[in-house]
Amino acid sequence: MCGIVGIVGVTNTVPRMMEALHRLEYRGYDSAGVATLHDGDLHRCRAVGKIAALDSKLVERPVKGDIGIGHTRWATHGEAVEVNAHPHMTDKLAVVHNGIIENFASLKKELIDKGHQFEGETDTEVVARLITDYLTSGIDAKNAIFKTLKRIEGAFALAILVNDNNNTIYAARRGSPLVIGLGQTENYLGSDAIALASLSNKLIYLEEGDWAQISRDSVSVFDMTGEEVARPITYSQVSNTFADKGNYRHFMQKEIFEQPFILAQTIGKYFDQNACKITLPVEGFDFSEVSKITIIACGTSYYAAQVAKFWLEKMARIPVEVDIASEFRYRDPVYMDGGLAVFISQSGETADTLAALKHAKSAGQTILSILNAEESSMSRESDMVFPIYAGPEIGVASTKAFTCQLVVLAALAIEVAYVRGELDDNGVKTVIDNLEEVPRLISDILNNHKDIEKIAHYIAKARDILFVGRGTHSAIAMEGALKLKEISYIHAEGYAAGELKHGPIALIDENVPVIGLAPNDDLFDKTVSNLQEIMARQGKVIIISDREADAVVGGSEKLLSFKMPKACALVSPILYAVPVQLLAYYAAVEKGTDADQPRNLAKSVTVE
Ligand code: G6P
Repeated sequence: MCGIVGIVGVTNTVPRMMEALHRLEYRGYDSAGVATLHDGDLHRCRAVGKIAALDSKLVERPVKGDIGIGHTRWATHGEAVEVNAHPHMTDKLAVVHNGIIENFASLKKELIDKGHQFEGETDTEVVARLITDYLTSGIDAKNAIFKTLKRIEGAFALAILVNDNNNTIYAARRGSPLVIGLGQTENYLGSDAIALASLSNKLIYLEEGDWAQISRDSVSVFDMTGEEVARPITYSQVSNTFADKGNYRHFMQKEIFEQPFILAQTIGKYFDQNACKITLPVEGFDFSEVSKITIIACGTSYYAAQVAKFWLEKMARIPVEVDIASEFRYRDPVYMDGGLAVFISQSGETADTLAALKHAKSAGQTILSILNAEESSMSRESDMVFPIYAGPEIGVASTKAFTCQLVVLAALAIEVAYVRGELDDNGVKTVIDNLEEVPRLISDILNNHKDIEKIAHYIAKARDILFVGRGTHSAIAMEGALKLKEISYIHAEGYAAGELKHGPIALIDENVPVIGLAPNDDLFDKTVSNLQEIMARQGKVIIISDREADAVVGGSEKLLSFKMPKACALVSPILYAVPVQLLAYYAAVEKGTDADQPRNLAKSVTVE
């Protein structure tokens, strides 16, 4: 989603801004641009498509300047065309923006009535014109920006470059993240620590409502009342080297195949096999006192939450509620005293999840966040953070972060079960022993990737595909469908297998493949019955199971299958996540879509 960079420098900023914009590519975007101040004039270059298109345009029409702002845009208001790309400029300033200005329509009307002319359809242009309006009336830049901030509504991050000889970038944060990087003779601004990784590791995170004035040798931060405030300096651990694909064709492929190693690390952090203990990264919180657990997340993280609900209720016998973040706070949820609210997010920045977190926090719930990005807005708002240690995930479709989330959620479930007396030392030892097998079992699955490629080759021709499973595997079915539609653009839906006959079975014919996740667990016979119902209606069933396919559905020459290793009920959904990831990846490769940066999607969704 939209990314912001800014440099108040002593040498040409453009190459460094471009480097920072490349670092922000992982967030997902559809156009990009930079603006600089040079010899008393504003200069700008914008291009639709990948950053490479902006690189090429800058070669043809170079732009330079010691002070500049840059942007990657993920379209919200107005198509992804050059006129809507940021920076937006007037004769007095340039603006880049991440988020949404909710009252832009009324402000736009007011400004048009005053004679302002708009070039594009974005909400951002309203900010540029409103500040310009104040500047034209004689108000200085700092006050013009403060006045503007008081008038705009919504969640946003802004960087504003004013052409007033002060060599200053102004920044504002409400909802969307923004971080200032401190240098020796320069200062910087970015959407996250990753953007600034090659510029500075000495960071000031703007807090909600903050705005700032950044020059070469000073940084002043103000709160929403206009009072100057001191914000702590933190030192980022983010590496300044670019993640690379190694010998893999796509980041997604690399991230799927590195799961055995990554998961072994995460398992090592949370489980001590020798001592048969869970090693949580926080001390002093008594999980036995928790009355109820509410888990909130979006997208893939939400499916991890659904798996965790089964684990927590079954093992720890504690009530668990799971919801998608975009719905949660708007349905006026009922909290319980002593409730634990768990937020799962790889990015730690998802706007809906962050808003839900703040809602739960203000209701007095204890906040636990399960995050990949340890330096993120959610980590700063939480009482406890459980890192998932997945490392940088560049593919927009989440893979290794999902399985790492599951491992951490398993640790939480086992800990809660133990402190509530539902699991004894022997029980803990058994589950830890089983989890320790996960990296080896996933390696076995990955070694058989050719079998999945064959299935992917077959399903890539389909227009619609269903995934079904029961229990924890119903969540994996939904995650499998999400993964497939995200990157191959094949329409796919995931269902609890028993639900099929309440509607989706009407879709079944010989052209609709159904992927059945059928581990040999206590729900196996029920799942098999549902798969039989599909086959009785000419549906093409593809079995993913640790039983022989013949045993599952009685044999059929048309049947495709993938053989899974045997595993206990706790470990099984972690394993079944892997073939559905591979299926989506190889189907995307077969269809020639961009597996790493699928159309319309963003890695870090910072608008509601
Ligand atoms: C986007 C990403 C997904 C991710 C979801 C939630 O849609 O493309 O991969 O699952 O956001 O993101 P989060 O960072 O909160 O886990």
